[in-house]
Amino acid sequence: MRTQVLIVGSGPSGLLLGQLLAGIGIDNVILERVDRDHLLSRVRAGVLEQGTVELLDEAGAGERMHAEGLPHDGFAVAFDNRLHRIDLHALTGKRVMVYGQTEMTRDLVEKREKAGLTTVFEAANVALHDISGSPFVTYEKDGQSHRIDCDFIAGCDGYHGVSRRSVPGGALQSFERVYPFGWLGVLAEVPPASHELIYANHELGFALCSMRSMTRSRYYIQCPIDEKVEDWSDGRFWDELRRRLPAESAAAVTTGPSFEKSIALLRSFVVEPMQFGKLSLVGDAAHIVPPTGAKGLNLAASDVRYLFSGLREFYADGSTAGMDAYSGRALARVWKAVRFSWWMTTMLHRFPEGGAFGQRIQEAELDYLVHSRAASTALAENYVGLPY
Ligand code: APR
Ligand code: PHB
Repeated sequence: MRTQVLIVGSGPSGLLLGQLLAGIGIDNVILERVDRDHLLSRVRAGVLEQGTVELLDEAGAGERMHAEGLPHDGFAVAFDNRLHRIDLHALTGKRVMVYGQTEMTRDLVEKREKAGLTTVFEAANVALHDISGSPFVTYEKDGQSHRIDCDFIAGCDGYHGVSRRSVPGGALQSFERVYPFGWLGVLAEVPPASHELIYANHELGFALCSMRSMTRSRYYIQCPIDEKVEDWSDGRFWDELRRRLPAESAAAVTTGPSFEKSIALLRSFVVEPMQFGKLSLVGDAAHIVPPTGAKGLNLAASDVRYLFSGLREFYADGSTAGMDAYSGRALARVWKAVRFSWWMTTMLHRFPEGGAFGQRIQEAELDYLVHSRAASTALAENYVGLPY
């Protein structure tokens, strides 16, 4: 079989790229390791920058997002038992869209199926060959082995995927920071404590109040790195969450049974360059950010925007300028979002070694942040998404 762009991975990166390419007549095939139900059952974050919203619209998959998503003009930072609102719209003229990544993935999968585009689910043992020459990919399905030749490979297979591992050792440099704590998160069919997100700094640790809709809430609390989910009853979670929120927010928390509870570890990771031969790495395959800045999904969309423009240029007039510039352009924006996510994480979490001095420094930084228009604007600019 032959295609123009072979996409490994059917997460938000692969699906968004596939839809944009199909929209301008560029043939592409997606190979995905898991089955469709598993793919659509994953629980992930859900704050979209305006640029990501626009890209989803360009892919023709934004209808349900506009119908069911929640546009937010601001969010709150809580510390010292007080809430401080960051007015994103007043400070930047922009807003964010609260819409679950799970829903976005579902919209793109359905759009792809409706368009009759090829996705091979449960593609096992995907392997990349001759990535700096005439690339082709092999995989197994139903006990049969298959081969697809292509012009380019887009490695959209996440942190644990095969694409990054297919680049010869030494050709890539990686940068990593692992944080000494995790996030214990719950999803519950209860109304959110506030109509906007609350990022809380507290001496007991960080907490985040988020939502998927006005009837479904998502909450997180910072937990030790070796914590066990089974040690956390719903009751214990709600009590700890409320302890970390200002009194007015704690009183507004509606509790209820959680239908999802999990722990995510926090790390920052970047690999350079994001391209080797005809293989371009996209999204989590090339970089991971802690969720504190809500940048994971938006960085994946940002990479897709740059790669799409490089491929469009190549198939329009044979110029490789855009493809050659992909890694540099994507990394420039990636590192700024990695810095922002690291900064939000450092400012809002309790670090074991930080001690009382560390807590005071955090509070002083937060106090400056919420009382300085310049500092709030810097935060808002990064949160709504820096220019491309
Ligand atoms: N072969 C085929 N598919 C694979 C392989 C493989 N060897 N390895 C992984 N995959 C698939 C996974 O099953 C997954 O569906 O690649 C997909 C990668 O999707 P994501 O991990 O969601 O990565 P990405 O599309 O880049 O999206 C980044 O996801 O994790 C969040 O915070 C992150 O929001 C960000 C977004
Ligand atoms: C979420 O809703 O899951 C969420 C929102 C904002 C973040 C992280 C996660 O920064």
